[in-house]
Amino acid sequence: MDRRTISILGGTGHEGSGLGLRWAKAGHNIIIGSRAAEKAEAAALELNALLGLSTVCGMDNLSAAKAGEIVVLTVPPEAQIATLESVKPALAGKILVDATARVDAKDPKPPQGKASARMAQELLGDGVRVVAAFQNVPAHALKKLDRELASDVLVCGDDPDARAEVARLAEAAGMQAYEAGGLDNGIVVEGLTALIISVNKRYKSKTGGIRISGIR
Ligand SMILES: NC(=O)c1ccc[n+]([C@@H]2O[C@H](COP(=O)([O-])OP(=O)(O)OC[C@H]3O[C@@H](n4cnc5c(N)ncnc54)[C@H](OP(=O)(O)O)[C@@H]3O)[C@@H](O)[C@H]2O)c1
Repeated sequence: MDRRTISILGGTGHEGSGLGLRWAKAGHNIIIGSRAAEKAEAAALELNALLGLSTVCGMDNLSAAKAGEIVVLTVPPEAQIATLESVKPALAGKILVDATARVDAKDPKPPQGKASARMAQELLGDGVRVVAAFQNVPAHALKKLDRELASDVLVCGDDPDARAEVARLAEAAGMQAYEAGGLDNGIVVEGLTALIISVNKRYKSKTGGIRISGIR
């Protein structure tokens, strides 16, 4: 696919830096977003050093949201809505990829109510195309560049073009992606995260994921 500029809000953390690493390796321009620009710049330097590149840069979350063609949200669930409110005007006309899984890793249970990404869509309005993805992909697996990424991505969204674009991005990062219906299906994907965390705990793993069978 063409080179994209992808901004990752909360990209200093586990999941966001793992996605940034994979996309930078695949040739995309990556902007790491943070509440603190200096923290984002330091995280960007680390990713560039790991890959021997200079295509990753760091900015505060609002500047990152303005500068990105596609914006990915990887902040803790309790910070999801406040972070989106703080960048809302910068997202108009863009795809917002929401990786939020409202699951407590210490006591994993399926979340109740609406999908996180549905809540994001309601907040952002029709001018932003929200897509839910990556909620099942363990950060530890993203960072192991020398190992096969055995974790498929279920991509949910109400806009078929945006969904397909995010599926291509997941494939570019080394994962098998499956378009999995509308945004409301995101609640099931978040629930699967609770299962995956439970399985990883039981088998003392940090990289276990899910695979779809029978299609490819
Ligand atoms: N970890 C995983 O394996 C995994 C897998 C799938 C999905 N997810 C989802 O990805 C999201 C991020 O998970 P994570 O494990 O990467 O989280 P994390 O490392 O704990 O946090 C990510 C970043 O969010 C920012 N942040 C923390 N508290 C915040 C607050 N109160 N307000 C605004 N920003 C805040 C921080 O960046 P700054 O301090 O730089 O602002 C932090 O580096 C979650 O929604 C999670 O459900 C995680």
